[in-house]
Amino acid sequence: MSHPLAAAVTSAEKATGRRIAVLTAYDYPMARLLEEAGVDWLLVGDSLGMVVLGYPDTTSVTLADMRHHTAAVARGATRTPIIADLPIGTYDTPKAALEAARTLIAAGAHAVKLEGGLSHADRVAALVDAGIPTMGHIGMLPQRVREEGGYKIKGRSNEESDAILADALALQNAGAFALVLELVQPQTTARITESLGIPTIGIGSGPNCDGQVLVTQDLTGAFPWFRPKFVTPVAAVGEAVREAARSFALDVRCQRQSR
Ligand code: KIV
Repeated sequence: MSHPLAAAVTSAEKATGRRIAVLTAYDYPMARLLEEAGVDWLLVGDSLGMVVLGYPDTTSVTLADMRHHTAAVARGATRTPIIADLPIGTYDTPKAALEAARTLIAAGAHAVKLEGGLSHADRVAALVDAGIPTMGHIGMLPQRVREEGGYKIKGRSNEESDAILADALALQNAGAFALVLELVQPQTTARITESLGIPTIGIGSGPNCDGQVLVTQDLTGAFPWFRPKFVTPVAAVGEAVREAARSFALDVRCQRQSR
């Protein structure tokens, strides 16, 4: 990635074994808090469709949504590399991908991410050739959740494992600076991580990656109505908000007017 901090992290990573910690951010305060906490990269994920906008999955997220939230994150985090997701339908061709990516870069992203392997290597190559750092996303692809019928583990059979490795190598050859591996079986994840010169960033794929990414709302318990099986929340932000609101409402109702 061209961002100086990211370049330092990515080039050193494979050699030193330093893991890359990535969290999602969708707005100013969270971006600022995560930067203050020292997170390596921020991802403006299209998971914002679920955890911010209230859709059942990521397939309703638009480029306008992504631009709006990327700009907010860029105002909150001024020193941390920001990667923004290209939403569904915005990278069906290399030309479309380039146009969408330029919109997100103009909004403050340093890099973009898109879903798909071998079939999308031409889009990654077009973006990288145009100077836009690009992260791949393989394994379970949330933008295809409806066709796939749910969030299922990938890479269990030898054939699937070989296919995901081929996807990973194609994206690396196209110039991707890192790859998200989502819901990939841990042995397949290890195989991919060992085979690549670029970092793998796992989500629900076990420990055999060069880094990990989580949806911040899952990590902090801020979206308590749904929690992926592989996440153990380390805070209960949703319950803390409910409790603060209950206490405020009680205080207001008990208040006497001073007249
Ligand atoms: O949209 C997102 O938050 C993502 C992560 C789950 C990797 O793509």
